[in-house]
Amino acid sequence: MARKFIAAGNWKMNTTIKEGISLAQKLQDGKRDVNVVTILGVPATHLYPLKKKIKASSKILLAAQNCHHKVSGAYTGEISPAMLADLKIPYVILGHSERREYNHEDNALLASKLRAALDAGLKVIFCCGEALDIRKASTHVAHVKTQLVESLFFLSAAEMKNIVIAYEPIWAIGTGETATPQQAQEMHQAIRSMLSKKYGKRVAENTSILYGGSVKGNNAKEIFSQPDVDGGLVGGASLNADEFLQVINSF
Ligand code: 13P
Repeated sequence: MARKFIAAGNWKMNTTIKEGISLAQKLQDGKRDVNVVTILGVPATHLYPLKKKIKASSKILLAAQNCHHKVSGAYTGEISPAMLADLKIPYVILGHSERREYNHEDNALLASKLRAALDAGLKVIFCCGEALDIRKASTHVAHVKTQLVESLFFLSAAEMKNIVIAYEPIWAIGTGETATPQQAQEMHQAIRSMLSKKYGKRVAENTSILYGGSVKGNNAKEIFSQPDVDGGLVGGASLNADEFLQVINSF
């Protein structure tokens, strides 16, 4: 099983349902490389209406942008992984730096979210990445290693087939500044080597590792051409159908 090429959009807290449906329909109707797995990380309110609108034959998959670490209970305002599974949503994004920062999600909490998500039968796009001061101190690889060790590496090798890793340097998110293809490759190679040490070569070779941070139509090709970059997690540029189609067709 070779690893998959993935173009995942993260719409964050953007679009009305009408705008979201229109965007998804344009992607569905657009000319797309069908060998690329296309995933849309949409607001929770959009999951059900989009699930109904997107044709199964389009192979566009949906992701939630978060879930709780419990199956059910007195957690006002939260959505459980079981609820997402009930809607037949295949993916959930966990560990995004915006949730780590604004919602104080730490590595231990993320480990419990991962456990709950996998137990519910979801696949997880797990985000990691360093802030600018860490990059400047050249401790970025160690920082990402800690994130993976504390949140992910308790999983079994068999469970890793349900994990996609997204490396998103915080200094490149929404800033217009991307990591250079070489910086992305350095980290992706380091992550693959961590996977290999922990789980063996097979798991390392079969795990898709995405780059995120100001990926656009005009820079995706160069980033995706790096040997250990298997695709992108795309914020701003995924809100424009033509631009995201260009990203999807950049492999
Ligand atoms: P931008 O593509 O807008 O920089 O966002 C990246 C991101 O955070 C995707 O999860």
